[in-house]
Amino acid sequence: MNVLKFLDQKISAALVAAGAPADSPAMVRQSARVQFGDYQSNGVMPVAKKLGMNPRELAQKVIDNLDLTEAADKIEIAGPGFINIFLKPEWMAEKLSGYVQDDRAGVEEAATRQTIVVDLSAPNVAKEMHVAHLRSTVIGDAVSKTLEFLGHKVVRANHIGDWGTQFGMLIAHLEDLQKDNPDVMNSELGDLENFYRESKKHYDSDEEFAKRARNYVVKLQGGDEWCLTQWKKLVDVTMEQNLNTYKRLGVNITARDTMGESMYNDMLPAIVEDMKGKGLAVEDDGAMVVYLDEYKNKDGDPMGVIVQKRDGGFLYTTTDIACARYRYENLGADRVLYYIDARQAQHLQQAWTIVRKAGYVPEHVTLEHHAFGMMLGKDNKPFKTRAGGVVKLASLLDEATARATRLIEEKSGDMPAEQKAEVINAIAMGSVKYSDLSKNRTSDYVFEWDNMLSFEGNTAPYMMYAYTRVQSIFRKAGVDVAALGGDIAIKEDAERELAIKLMQFSEAVEGVAREGMPHILCAYLFELAGCFMKFYEFCPVNKVDVPADVKTSRLQLCALTARTLKLGLGCIGIETVEQM
Ligand code: ARG
Repeated sequence: MNVLKFLDQKISAALVAAGAPADSPAMVRQSARVQFGDYQSNGVMPVAKKLGMNPRELAQKVIDNLDLTEAADKIEIAGPGFINIFLKPEWMAEKLSGYVQDDRAGVEEAATRQTIVVDLSAPNVAKEMHVAHLRSTVIGDAVSKTLEFLGHKVVRANHIGDWGTQFGMLIAHLEDLQKDNPDVMNSELGDLENFYRESKKHYDSDEEFAKRARNYVVKLQGGDEWCLTQWKKLVDVTMEQNLNTYKRLGVNITARDTMGESMYNDMLPAIVEDMKGKGLAVEDDGAMVVYLDEYKNKDGDPMGVIVQKRDGGFLYTTTDIACARYRYENLGADRVLYYIDARQAQHLQQAWTIVRKAGYVPEHVTLEHHAFGMMLGKDNKPFKTRAGGVVKLASLLDEATARATRLIEEKSGDMPAEQKAEVINAIAMGSVKYSDLSKNRTSDYVFEWDNMLSFEGNTAPYMMYAYTRVQSIFRKAGVDVAALGGDIAIKEDAERELAIKLMQFSEAVEGVAREGMPHILCAYLFELAGCFMKFYEFCPVNKVDVPADVKTSRLQLCALTARTLKLGLGCIGIETVEQM
């Protein structure tokens, strides 16, 4: 059990023993400043208010009922009734010794294993992946990996845009291209963006083409075999490219995870029928509409959400209604996390309001929009090419590789070629991912090559470098990490700071799992690396005059630091290398 949970249980019990109602939360947090101890409990004040008691008196009563002799050497009441806990170095040392022997560095699996569906990536067919999809891919995969580390069952659901009226024009355009070049799928569709643009242009300018395209939409929806074959070709060629990108990025999204819009298509008529039967969907001018009191239109009337158009077609929202139901009923989700651009918030809220009203997903299953902001260029405007087009993900990754190559040639030019290539790839992909993951996802962020490839600051190169630094200590000491034994002793301030950080790893991991925010773990690892650098400066390990017992103690802190960095970076999909 991590320290936070341990203290929370102890103090909660003491609160009740001191007269608080059962289930009064102890509200234990890591203290923000050393003078407030290592942890503080903020639970006394609200209880005192409820009971009409003096909060400091209640705090004293709680302390009288609190037995922490083993773990803490000081407990203080501060301000209006905060309880500050100062941990005992001996207790910390004992806990850490256990973590050194544990290949999970003290992170326990979750008490209840949940099935968690993660909606991520979701690019569109016959289009290039753009930066919003990069964010959704990278953040969604990082959270998935963290949840898996905690023992949950994660289903990555790649909700690709593979259905809709645009396929009429795409099929018609493909048909034309194939007339000239039967092999066009293999040769020319490398540039999907161009393909999409050309078909749109043709559609807007040529009435005969547009008519043919509209006819194909009807035929495709009716299950026409030729249309389906053409459609499938477009889906396949797009996903082949995207799967390559996933592999390059080291994100764990495979062909099996593709659960696109088309998958729900057959379920939609029954959904609308069912909502009609429940009095939820009503006919309005030929269309089927759900009126929601929760949302008002500009006249202040309940907003109508169309679930089926007059021509019989279904919408993006209808699909998301069916999709949420499927994730609960068929995938057995306990939680569904949606990594989608913040601009789709209203769309999701409306779909889910309908889902709840229709009773498709019970309240205890959470539907969570883990929204993210935009990726901006250096000019603070949405990230685009100079000409204002979408930046192709593949070319972005090529540039990252080129820049990382230059960097490593400068720094470690004499490395063996194979190893060098590995380091370059880890730095290139790591930098692109980490610069995204390390920022609070809810805000926009500026994509900036120089910053993200810097060896200073909260960056992938810095974190990876910190890891290699620790590893080099072992190489110098000539010891085998696995065979390390002996006691840990925490004496110096720098040792204590490092020790408490190391004890808090699982709290950071759990924060990511709870909030779906990888920056919590990035911030933690960055602080850990900082604590380590300071420790290494003040607490020599390999110097000749370091006594043997001090050396083994310090080497153990080094070992745990290395493992924690590696595991932590692994949780968010950042690779480490042994040397760079
Ligand atoms: N394909 C959509 C887009 O590019 C994202 C889909 C997100 N997932 C969902 N269940 N709506 O905007």
